Amino acid sequence: MNTDYAIQVRNLTVSYGPKPALLDVSFFINKGELVGIIGPNGAGKSTLMKAILGFVKRDIGEVFIFGKPVEHTRGLVAYVPQRGTVDWDYPVTVHDVVMMGRYGHLKWWQNETKEDHDIVDRSLEMVRMSEFRNRQIGQLSGGQQQRVFMARALAQGAKILLLDEPFAGVDAATENAILDVLSEAKKAGITLVVVHHDLATASEYFDKLLLIKQRLYAAGPPSLVFRQELLTEVYEGKLKVFTDLIKD
Ligand SMILES: Nc1ncnc2c1ncn2[C@@H]1O[C@H](COP(=O)(O)OP(=O)(O)O)[C@@H](O)[C@H]1O
Ligand SMILES: [Mg+2]
Repeated sequence: MNTDYAIQVRNLTVSYGPKPALLDVSFFINKGELVGIIGPNGAGKSTLMKAILGFVKRDIGEVFIFGKPVEHTRGLVAYVPQRGTVDWDYPVTVHDVVMMGRYGHLKWWQNETKEDHDIVDRSLEMVRMSEFRNRQIGQLSGGQQQRVFMARALAQGAKILLLDEPFAGVDAATENAILDVLSEAKKAGITLVVVHHDLATASEYFDKLLLIKQRLYAAGPPSLVFRQELLTEVYEGKLKVFTDLIKD
């Protein structure tokens, strides 16, 4: 294992049934990289996220977070839920949701300190949601809720954020807002791993891409991953927008 890597996956196989969802997948991600995971439906993208969080049972293989087995790295990796997947039927403010990220750091007899409040404020600033701090979370758009969850993950002290299709179904303004937040987080040294379904923007948005369909077909800079023979093999007939995407 190499402790310079934020994430290292070695020979990972995960099965729910007889056919593995992921088969012998190995790669690494450097600290502070913004990485996109691409591949068709059912390719195992979400399963890979769960494996990086330590949420699925592995048949074979290892996942290291900053050089330590994922089981011993609680709190360093945070999952940002897809927008609209959380149904808020009780009143809680944006500030409260982000403060929840601090609770893991507090003992039961401790109150929130000034430092906790400062961290919450800074996290809200980073995702550009400070002006909404007193708003009920249920009254925000899906894209705004997603930014609040990113702030909570940052307040928690997570060094790696995983986002599963954050751009699915958002309008252009929200897409730009999320992109801004990703680049802010990257500037702050956070490592970001994003499942992304839109090939047309993948090479523009990410430093590095992982192309998966059960196996890892390619990993590296977009120019290396966007090769005709690779995309044809992985997407088969499902790839329509094509010729403008290929760089070779
Ligand atoms: N909890 C589960 N139980 C059984 N099969 C699952 C489960 N989750 C995912 N799968 C199967 O594993 C494969 C990969 O799924 P998933 O990781 O969700 O792919 P993706 O996110 O790329 O669409 C699919 O064939 C899917 O049907
Ligand atoms: Mg998925």
